[in-house]
Amino acid sequence: MNSLLKIESLTKSYRLGASEVPVLRGLSLQVGAGEMVVIMGPSGSGKTTLLNCISGIDLPDSGKVTLQQKLVDYQSETERTRLRREQIGMVFQFFNLIPTLTARENVALPFLINGIRSKDSLKRVDDLLAEVGMSQRSDHLPFQLSGGEMQLVSIARALARRPALLLADEPTGNVNPHIGRSIMEILRATAKRENTGLLMVTHSPEHAAWADRICFLKDGQIADELHHEGQRDVLAPIHAKLLALEI
Ligand SMILES: Nc1ncnc2c1ncn2[C@@H]1O[C@H](COP(=O)(O)OP(=O)(O)OP(=O)(O)O)[C@@H](O)[C@H]1O
Ligand SMILES: [Mg+2]
Repeated sequence: MNSLLKIESLTKSYRLGASEVPVLRGLSLQVGAGEMVVIMGPSGSGKTTLLNCISGIDLPDSGKVTLQQKLVDYQSETERTRLRREQIGMVFQFFNLIPTLTARENVALPFLINGIRSKDSLKRVDDLLAEVGMSQRSDHLPFQLSGGEMQLVSIARALARRPALLLADEPTGNVNPHIGRSIMEILRATAKRENTGLLMVTHSPEHAAWADRICFLKDGQIADELHHEGQRDVLAPIHAKLLALEI
């Protein structure tokens, strides 16, 4: 597999008072271009920590992350910023839209902070709003949107600059089942059409079933994986793994 993202022996601990709490303990994982990978694991197992260490929101203690054949230097703040502006799109559980900007302005933000104000970028913003079904809501402020609508807008924002890698932390955790399904359709279609690598965390076996591969995070490492290989009924195998791993 031509790997887009390669994570090798990643470790991360948090200091709590006098003690160190190890969260990631030598975790290794790869995501290919156009591949949709899901991470499942118990609450507190380090799924959000892992995504934050990849994007540079948080800093790993040790280990290597290679993105598009280049080793990421997390010590460099410039590189961390560039990573999030140019290579990685992020979708959060609680949307993280800017409350004072409209839906359209939120989606346009990745262009504006890079000083891009071209006709093409404005068209891209409107195309994305149409793709996620939010054209009629473009002038709404976030508080005038439902939770599901906010998430659709935040997905459009994450995709604005065609990131090579999309990280999604429980993108369907706070939306109704109908929008949850639309979100899965959009994410999967984007990964396949744009050749985007997608790494998504979810607690939902139904949503995990959309992935090409499911990685189970336990005790700070990937404890097991499930490859789809076009099987139709993957729900039963997912439930079996969750049960076996006591997740
Ligand atoms: N900034 C921090 N300082 C100290 N401990 C932290 C910090 N962030 C996370 N932790 C701890 O690290 C562990 C992993 O947290 P993380 O948020 O990555 O879990 P998670 O797998 O995403 O859980 P959930 O499914 O509930 O979202 C938890 O025990 C948490 O308390
Ligand atoms: Mg989390």
